[in-house]
Amino acid sequence: FTVEDKDAPPSQKTVRVPPGVSVFDSASWNGIAIDSTCGGHGTCHKCKVRVSPVTPVTRHDERTFNPNELQAGWRLACLVQATRDHDVLVPPLVTRPKAATVGVGRQVILRPAVQKRYVELTEPTLEDQRPDLVRLLDAIDDLEPHPDLHALRRLPKVLREGDFKVTAVVVDEVLVDVEPGDTTAIRYAIAFDLGTTTVVATLLDLVTGTPVAVASMLNKQQPFGGDVISRISATMLDPAALGRLQQAAADTLSTLAQQVCREGGVDPLHVYEAALAGNATMTALLLGIDPEPLGVAPFVQTTATPPAVLASEVGLTLHPGARVALFPALGAYVGGDIVAGMLATGMDRDKRVRLFIDVGTNCEIVLSDGEKILATAAPAGPAFEGGAIRCGMRAADGAIEVIKLTPGEDDPGVELGVIGDVAPRGLCGSGLVDAVAELVKVGLLDASGRFVTDEVAKELAPGLADRLTYIGQERVFVLHRERVDADPSESVVLSQRDVRELQFAKAAISTGWTLLMEELGLEHRDIQQVLLAGSFGSYLSAASAVRIGLVPTLPVLRIVAAGNVAGEGAKMALLSIRERAGALALLEEVTYVELSDRPDFNDRFVDLLAFPTP
Ligand code: FES
Repeated sequence: FTVEDKDAPPSQKTVRVPPGVSVFDSASWNGIAIDSTCGGHGTCHKCKVRVSPVTPVTRHDERTFNPNELQAGWRLACLVQATRDHDVLVPPLVTRPKAATVGVGRQVILRPAVQKRYVELTEPTLEDQRPDLVRLLDAIDDLEPHPDLHALRRLPKVLREGDFKVTAVVVDEVLVDVEPGDTTAIRYAIAFDLGTTTVVATLLDLVTGTPVAVASMLNKQQPFGGDVISRISATMLDPAALGRLQQAAADTLSTLAQQVCREGGVDPLHVYEAALAGNATMTALLLGIDPEPLGVAPFVQTTATPPAVLASEVGLTLHPGARVALFPALGAYVGGDIVAGMLATGMDRDKRVRLFIDVGTNCEIVLSDGEKILATAAPAGPAFEGGAIRCGMRAADGAIEVIKLTPGEDDPGVELGVIGDVAPRGLCGSGLVDAVAELVKVGLLDASGRFVTDEVAKELAPGLADRLTYIGQERVFVLHRERVDADPSESVVLSQRDVRELQFAKAAISTGWTLLMEELGLEHRDIQQVLLAGSFGSYLSAASAVRIGLVPTLPVLRIVAAGNVAGEGAKMALLSIRERAGALALLEEVTYVELSDRPDFNDRFVDLLAFPTP
């Protein structure tokens, strides 16, 4: 694309799209704005571009351009399909379409499923007895919606009370409502990231593409267990548990929806749609679908593409016609949250070799070499969430999240970053990674993950050696103590067993990406960007992740915190139906690699337990 701008020199951008995608969508998917008021429907005749080599002329092109322009390659972008390499000249915008930046630098051109049209209709007469619905649909014929019953029930009254000046509300080709007067400036939707631990809701203004309010809370399913396996087990042990888990998820969503609407000053009746990204188990439980086949080999989903459901069916009180679009999943352990994350990071749009890692109890890994995309899941266990760690805790007030060790006698020794700036109470996942990485760096942990002897400690790190001690038979390193002579069992420590837990977790993950890299014939240095996603991954120190071998050995600048990409993907699905279609396309584009039956898995895993030696 050569994109002209009235106020700046033209810019160039090369994009790759599947064959058959329109030039308009190719641009839109890649954040290039082309004039349009119909959003690519072929009705506004504004999306003028010059295409080379020239493409067939449509009747819409003939109506829009003169013969000279047609010969020069001018076409309507939404009617040109990209079937080969094209050069496309995009003239300066006349009406600038609104775009929003979402995810990792993704520019999304606003084209929500929720559309509103204000129309002033002629009133019926004895000469014009068209039904109310026909009268309305004739005025919004470019949207071609089907009415739902709620809209039909409201139509006669609203038309007459509004003097036939009304706003039609269309969601994904369904006429869901008619509102008196011009309400086109009022259009909202909610993006949900339904995590196993934390659930996040973002209220979006679909007119501007901007978030209005964001809220998060712990998933109310917590009493059934902290991870997906314990929740699946709960349904297997007690037939009533599925209903209770479904209700708990619905309550969580409902509480958050009310909160964001209250904070944003938005009437929930003006929320016309929601999108939800969750892993396969969370999605099944929300829908009341038996999750047992997800938890036992061969790990099968009921459906990879759950249909949109009415918001009221999942406990949400929004507009009566509001539906919840659910993200598709690649497999039982690479779910809709990861598909949303791939969308938000543009894993399928970027030519660079990129590795995406969502670090958690179940760790999802996606590797793209710019052509092929592979995905897998690795069972990392609860260490990163503070589980199975002696002083482990969630990332809450009092959790040590950053650690710096200095070994010399005159140094302060241990510097701690604590969440909430309060006295340290425990160690969260990023603190755990930092602690191990720093101990490896100063030499108190050897490459195999064993604490060194007291003699070696005194030699290598005299300022820290007195912190290396025992609780019972177990070797521990004291990270925080009230006093120098405090009992280690009452201090915040890292134990030898904790180190082992972290080694198992990081080896599971690094085995995952190592095997994917081997599949694509890649070396560490080939990886141009590592995206660390999820609430834990995003807080991880890149240097520490490299030092313990959680990510490939790379310069830290290549390692990027990607944030809550599942929630960002859900936002994108609401802001653009094209992006939503892109999520579905990912199911075709990404190859799922099952690790558990690979003969080389165990050998790799054992090799990768050790820490990389510099
Ligand atoms: Fe409206 Fe192409 S975008 S005609």
